[in-house]
Amino acid sequence: MISREMAMCRAVLENNRLLPLFARFNIRLGFGEKSVEEVCWINEVDPDFFMEIANAYLEEDDIPREDLAHFPLKSMVKYLRATHTYYLEVALPRVELLITQLLNQPELSQKEVNLLSGFFDDYKKEFMQHIFQEENEVLPYILELEKQSLPDQPDPEFISSLKVYSISKFEQEHDRLEYSLENLSRLIIKYLPPLENQELCLKVLAELSDLVKDLVDHANMEDRVLIPRVSELEQQVLSEKKGP
Ligand SMILES: [Fe+2]
Ligand SMILES: [Fe+2]
Repeated sequence: MISREMAMCRAVLENNRLLPLFARFNIRLGFGEKSVEEVCWINEVDPDFFMEIANAYLEEDDIPREDLAHFPLKSMVKYLRATHTYYLEVALPRVELLITQLLNQPELSQKEVNLLSGFFDDYKKEFMQHIFQEENEVLPYILELEKQSLPDQPDPEFISSLKVYSISKFEQEHDRLEYSLENLSRLIIKYLPPLENQELCLKVLAELSDLVKDLVDHANMEDRVLIPRVSELEQQVLSEKKGP
């Protein structure tokens, strides 16, 4: 657990799982003696939201904290978008580079190369499709819903569109991206021949395992915090628009 008063430098040194959060909150290093709270204010981040996300990351169980439920959906959408960008621009290319190196190992037969590269290419497609749908359909819908829930924003067209699309549709279709990634690790551990460059295999597996943990946290936030909040807001908007 970290606290607002703690020096940010100490918070990071003691909890290296916090590292990916800095890019997502657009917080630059060079903290000096500043506290967690001070660093947040300087970087225009709501310290309460940062604390909740950081501590949710550091908790042992994978159940998101209920406190997250009181933050504006706008903050949450911004955070989810930054996480998607991190996956697409940092995490996935890093895994891809390692997989490419793995494919070049001399011990692999053509069949094994095809199996591994085919598996990774399919996964990449599934991953991009998942994020594309959230970025272009789900998150814009959530922002619009939050806007519509404000007073004096009645839009009959939006209300009737709620009958066609609601967050329950996303809930039903929302896949977990970590399962296929675990299968990729399984393929490397179980089905590839022993390699001279064992170091490379272990590096790929460590990278995949970090990404799996991150994807679990991310999906839990979408499934257990975002969806129930949005569904509640939909009900609120629907009942308000019915009028007294
Ligand atoms: Fe997502
Ligand atoms: Fe998702």
